[in-house]
Parts: sequence; structure tokens; C-alpha cells
Amino acid sequence: MSDIKNYLDNNMDRFLNELIDLLKIPSISADSTYKEDTRRTAEMVREKLEAAGAENTELCETEGYPVVYGDKIIDPSLPTILVYGHYDVQPPDPLDLWDSPPFEPVIKDGKIYARGAADDKGQMYMHVKAFEYLNKESELPCNVKFIIEGEEEVGSVNLESFIKKNKEKLKADVILISDTSMLSLENPSITTGLKGLSYFEVEVTGPNRDLHSGVYGGAVANPINTLCKMIASLKDENNHISIPGFYDNVLEASEEERSKMAETPFDLDHYKSKLGIDEVEGEKGFSTIERTGIRPTLDVNGIWGGYTGEGAKTVLPSKAYAKISMRLVPNQSDKEITKLFKEHFEKIAPASVKVKVKPLHGGEPYVTPIDTLEYQAASEAIERSFGKTPIPVRAGGSIPIVALFEEVLQIKTILLGFGLDTDAIHSPNEHYGIDNFMKGTETIIHFYDTFSNLKK
Ligand code: BES
Ligand code: MN
Ligand code: MN
Repeated sequence: MSDIKNYLDNNMDRFLNELIDLLKIPSISADSTYKEDTRRTAEMVREKLEAAGAENTELCETEGYPVVYGDKIIDPSLPTILVYGHYDVQPPDPLDLWDSPPFEPVIKDGKIYARGAADDKGQMYMHVKAFEYLNKESELPCNVKFIIEGEEEVGSVNLESFIKKNKEKLKADVILISDTSMLSLENPSITTGLKGLSYFEVEVTGPNRDLHSGVYGGAVANPINTLCKMIASLKDENNHISIPGFYDNVLEASEEERSKMAETPFDLDHYKSKLGIDEVEGEKGFSTIERTGIRPTLDVNGIWGGYTGEGAKTVLPSKAYAKISMRLVPNQSDKEITKLFKEHFEKIAPASVKVKVKPLHGGEPYVTPIDTLEYQAASEAIERSFGKTPIPVRAGGSIPIVALFEEVLQIKTILLGFGLDTDAIHSPNEHYGIDNFMKGTETIIHFYDTFSNLKK
């Protein structure tokens, strides 16, 4: 097994250079300006999979960006691992807050800085290199299939129909994903849950045109003031979400689960200082770990309207807008919350304004038990590379396709992520630790082995 470390050490520079090639392409799925770049990234991923030894590599066309496929079937009677990842990235703005340009990767202090470094190109690429090792050294203990998609950051809109149409092609015993974070390299963890999502754009209209704020102000509803009031009313003084029925289906954690969660190594002072805040804030009666892991949340992602240019313009605007999202936990469902939110938001609007509530996208939450063979294999793999038993942790982020994998393909997913919460994903100066990359790759190699052994 020391062969693994040697191989990784000897090839580290090449791995990083290859990853840099990928990171240089702005595969921003949300912005159609980058359509050609995003497609070019898919092709590059396919080439790299092929170079690592994958067979049957292809770009599977969808209504949107293609899904990159590749596999290596050494013996159909052996277990099969299906690796999922994504090659698209979030938009990099605000650009002026980056220390170096987002698509000109730099290595600094043992980290690689670029948009997509951790989410998810860097993490996805560990799988390509783990597979390369196993294939080259003729140590593949099982079959492997890859699906790397290009629309995760925009809600995986076309992946659902892709998996429904390709159930046979995607047949596997476990799905393996590295697109989440761990507590730290000292305290390795395995993600056992993901949040669901319900995302809206709301529009509030007051008068039929922008008005002089002196002539009409105080006599006609200002939709920005009204929208702010409506948003403020969505949480009470305990930061409890006040939409009727919102918590009805929330699976409450047992005292035992909560006391286990309380043992999670977590340094609140470090957390606060990293974020430059003096105090945290959230639902009363729950710890930070609980708030992010097992409690549903509601956030405004953006709000706009009226005059935002230079200087002052005295205006009472006609319209105000906001993007509002809720993160959901088991057993809430996106469908049910979409209905509750829409009805509630329409109901709390005063008669002086009109509101439109438009659902944008959503996804279902996911949680996996830890007494499964799949989890056991992941736990043993981490023990081999980190020398420590991993801690199960529920994530605050969402990967909506995971619930669908279970529903449509009936396959369990292992979320073996090696990012850190401080990697600044979706933020300026996103980065991924080179140690995380190397340890992650090593762990993935072990997982092939531990899983195949347990599955026998
Ligand atoms: N990789 C993230 C999800 C994630 C990050 C899970 C950290 C756990 C820990 C993924 O790329 C992502 O950003 N998902 C979106 C949802 C999607 C529907 C746009 C999210 O969580 O906001
Ligand atoms: Mn991701
Ligand atoms: Mn993301």
C-alpha cells in the first residue's frame, strides 16, 4: 500500500498541471456566454478519462450540457462503483474581490486557487487519478463507471431525464461522490445528509409607474418597504420560520442523535473569527452544527428595485424583487414547501400591492443511515488513509440529484468529500488544499478495495 503514496508523490506535479488545464476553462453553466467553454470542458474531461484508461468514453447529449461518460468493466460479476461529479462551476463574480483571476489558477501556500478548485473540478479529478492508479497498476478490484455532468450548479435540470433513460447503462452497486466537505484533515468526516432546496423569485408591484417620492410618498405603498416587511415577517424573534405548516414534516432528531452531534469537534470561536463576525445567529435552541446540519433555513439571496445608481434620486418605485430560498431537511419535500411558501407569501401581501411568486428550482433532501455496507466501506477507507475513524456529519449544502439516484436507480450514495468549509466555494478566492487532493485520492483508491471486499 505504500505503493499508492509513492505513485501519488511521484506524479503529483503532473496531476496538478492536468487539473490546472481544467480549471483554466470558464465552464460557467449559468451564463450562456460560456457555452463553448463549457462544452470544451466536457470534451477535456472525456479526454482525461480516456487517458486514465477508461473505455467507452463519450459525451452523452442532453437538452443542455452533455454528461461525460466512461467506464471500465473488468468482470460483470464483480461489484460496480458509479462515480458522479460535475465539471461546471459557479460564476466568479464579484471579480474585484479575487486576489488572482478566477480562471488563471495559482498555487499558493499549499493550495490551488481558482473557480472550481474545490467545487467540483478538483474533487472530481481525484477520481480520475485514483482510477488511473488502479488501472495502471492492474489493481482494479471492481468495475467502474463515470458520469460527470455540466449542469449541477444550475439545478441538474437535464440529469433527471438522463438517468431515467439510462437505468441499464448506470447499473451499479454504489454511487461515489466527492462534492462535499470534511471537518478537517485532523478530523475526517463523512457526509451523511444533504439539504433539499426550494428557490423562488418574488415580485412586488405597488403603483403602475415610478413616482415622485415627495408627491406620493407616505400615501401610496412603496413596494420595497412592503417587500422588506414581508420578508422580515418570515421569521419570528427566535429565528423560527413562521410559514404555517413549514415544520410539520421535519424529522426531529432524537436526544441520542443530538448528543452525538454535540460531540462533533467544532470550534465556535475559530468559526466566528474566520467569518469576521462577533456572534452567530440562528434558530433558538439549536447549536451551529444543528442549524446547518439538521434544521431547515430560509435566506434572501438577493434583493433589488428602485434607484441604485450614483447619488440620490427621490423615487417611489413601482416594483421590488427578491430571490428567496429555503434549505430543507428530511422529511420535508420541495413540492410541499413550494406550495406552502407561495400561498403564504401571497396571503401576507397587503391590498396595496400585488405579488408574483415564481418557483425557480428545487430538490429533495437526503440522509443515509450509517449501518450500511457502503458507509462501512467508506469508513474503513478513511481509517486506512487518515488513521482515524471518520465522524458522520450532515451537510448544509444540496446536491439534488442524490435523492433522485436513490429514487430512480435505487442505489445508495457515499458522499466522500475532501473539501473544507473554508475553501470559499461559490465565493471569491475559492481554493482546494493539495493535501486534501492527495489524501482524497488515496482514500478513493482504498474505497475501491474496502467496498469490493465487503461486497463479496
Ligand atoms: N458541491 C455543492 C454542494 C455542497 C457543498 C454540499 C458543500 C455540501 C457541502 C454543489 O455544487 C452546490 O453548490 N449545490 C447547490 C445546489 C444547486 C441546486 C445549485 C447549493 O447547495 O447551493
Ligand atoms: Mn459541487
Ligand atoms: Mn456548487
